[in-house]
Amino acid sequence: MPRSNIIIIGSGISALTAAYQLSADKNVIIITKSKVTNSNSILAQGGVATSIGKDDSWQSHFKDTVSAGCYHNDETAVDILVKKGPDYLIDLINNGMEFDKDEDENLLLGKEGAHSTRRILHAGGDATGKALVMYMVGKVKERVQIIEDRTAIDFMIENNRCIGVKALASDHTIEEYIADYTILATGGCGGLYSSTSNDKTICGDGLAMAYRAGAKLYDLEFIQFHPTLLHKEGKTCGLVSEAVRGEGAILVDQDCKPIMSGIHPLLDLAPRDVVARAIFNENSRGNKVYLDISMIDDFTVRFPTITNLCIENEIPLERALLPVVPGAHFSMGGVKTDVKGLTSIPSLYAVGEVACTGVHGANRLASNSLLEGIVFGNIVARDILKDYSPNSSFHNSVSNSVHIRYDTLKLPSKAQIQEMMMDNVGIVRNHARLQYAIEWFETYKQEFEGIAPIHLSLEQLELVNMITVGWLIARSAIMRTESRGGHFREDYPAEDNHSWYKKEIIQGKTFETIVYS
Ligand code: SIN
Repeated sequence: MPRSNIIIIGSGISALTAAYQLSADKNVIIITKSKVTNSNSILAQGGVATSIGKDDSWQSHFKDTVSAGCYHNDETAVDILVKKGPDYLIDLINNGMEFDKDEDENLLLGKEGAHSTRRILHAGGDATGKALVMYMVGKVKERVQIIEDRTAIDFMIENNRCIGVKALASDHTIEEYIADYTILATGGCGGLYSSTSNDKTICGDGLAMAYRAGAKLYDLEFIQFHPTLLHKEGKTCGLVSEAVRGEGAILVDQDCKPIMSGIHPLLDLAPRDVVARAIFNENSRGNKVYLDISMIDDFTVRFPTITNLCIENEIPLERALLPVVPGAHFSMGGVKTDVKGLTSIPSLYAVGEVACTGVHGANRLASNSLLEGIVFGNIVARDILKDYSPNSSFHNSVSNSVHIRYDTLKLPSKAQIQEMMMDNVGIVRNHARLQYAIEWFETYKQEFEGIAPIHLSLEQLELVNMITVGWLIARSAIMRTESRGGHFREDYPAEDNHSWYKKEIIQGKTFETIVYS
């Protein structure tokens, strides 16, 4: 039976950061659903937002974060993010992480939507996530055991404390990982949607596990749709970073008419929800949308990852018009934690996109997610080490035992779930469509009611998790009868397009936070 001080589920930047800090002193195991390189972090192009520019300040970063978040943010969490960010980034740089620099060795700072200044550190042009993840893997590989192809099934809870996790190996055996502390770092749930920038493994597994364990979940209705996913023959084929618009690219229709004028004062660099809805509306009217990159001289040098995506998908760069559609990108809600990452279950922490500290509010500011992983990955590790208390459980493992499997469950396909979410719980929502999705999910939920997930195959487990999380998002969305950030209700539109970006307009109204436990 694998036993460790700390078990971490997931292998993105928050998992690797926590693992690195903890493994100086403790025995740490990481389990990951596929390979260590399957995460959303590795796909992140834009970079890491932090106020290290000479004319920048944490106050300005704070203001941009809560403004993009539609003032739904937990201000203590934002304070921690923007104040601690520069220190952790400088530590990383001093320890050998290389961000892009100019010929005079000054760090290059990019610009993205809703940032009032250039503050995005990037690496390898548009391969920041890859550079960071590979750097951290290099740091942890000698001192952390990384076990690939293990899908976490459920937490093990004893005397109200989390004592580890059960996981399914690809040969269908069940393993139990007992630990003093468990850290959930499984990422979000973009794979619930047919159009997504997320890695194919990211389908909300951690959220479903937390729900089954009785942990509190918050703000699940807030799903960020990235405006610009490359699009070819009805399929999305990767992200086109917002940094491209930061360098001057603009969104145009098939007649090369700019689509953002008159919609928001920040035009193409408006908050993501505004831009994603503008593209959605164009598409709904039958128009195609392109990103005009003709003004960026050194595009292939500055954006090598996007250049390769275009080449692989035979999208001619010479036309300088990249076909784009919006797609599910980031979940602002998640497993409710305090600002140290502790969930409502003792000894269970959550960090990164799966967690909801409230730092992102209703809409995450661009390039704040790698920053969140770095800052809160460190904070979680410190909190665990501060009052470390070993788990005294004498639990006997059921390792490698054979379990009854349900071969006859009638479940929808992954593609059907993704279409249901995109069409009914997507960029523009209303009561009727949300109700339709809830009822659709409920018919399938009945199928697995009362069946413990350890009895499911890998494929069934993923579908069960997707149905559970899709249903939770739809239920959260129907209960929030307002439009805010990543949650837009056409039956409750904002009074005017921008009014809910102004704090004074939203103060005085009470919005219930939806909690599941
Ligand atoms: C992007 O490069 O546009 C994505 C970065 C992010 O989501 O913060």
